[in-house]
Amino acid sequence: MFGPVSSPGATRDLDGLDWTRLREAADAVASRAYAPYSGLRVGAAGLGRDGQVYTGCNVENASFGVTLCAECGLVSALVAGGGQPLVAVSVTAGDGLALAPCGRCRQLLLEHGGPELLVDNGPGEVPLRLADLLPGAFTGEEIAERRSER
Ligand code: THU
Repeated sequence: MFGPVSSPGATRDLDGLDWTRLREAADAVASRAYAPYSGLRVGAAGLGRDGQVYTGCNVENASFGVTLCAECGLVSALVAGGGQPLVAVSVTAGDGLALAPCGRCRQLLLEHGGPELLVDNGPGEVPLRLADLLPGAFTGEEIAERRSER
């Protein structure tokens, strides 16, 4: 568990999602991570609205800032696979436990899952709504509504 125990709007075992399967997919892809610098192997697995599970792992770089988080790989696979929005996501460090998505990846997930995207909070814990993990988010609507016309 990395977030609050109860989250308004999220349900325990009522969402009909196979969180164990999603967590296992995240663990499996974490084993393929390229993480020689931090040693933290991260896997992300997301269920698309099409019922397919997409995965990604972190890929580090000697120029640390270039590192790709596991969620980047997941979103890339999702878009390349047809661009269905995500309905649920699990991020682990290959240990079956939920890992908190970093701030940048919360923003990334928002664009491809929306505020109601359910985020794994660990075995036996209530999943979290992305909106609760990224309140007051900046979105493309801001761009559309507020850009200058020139
Ligand atoms: N990492 C992820 O892959 N996703 C996150 O949401 C948090 C951080 C990775 C990036 C880096 O390779 C390692 O974890 C340590 O920060």
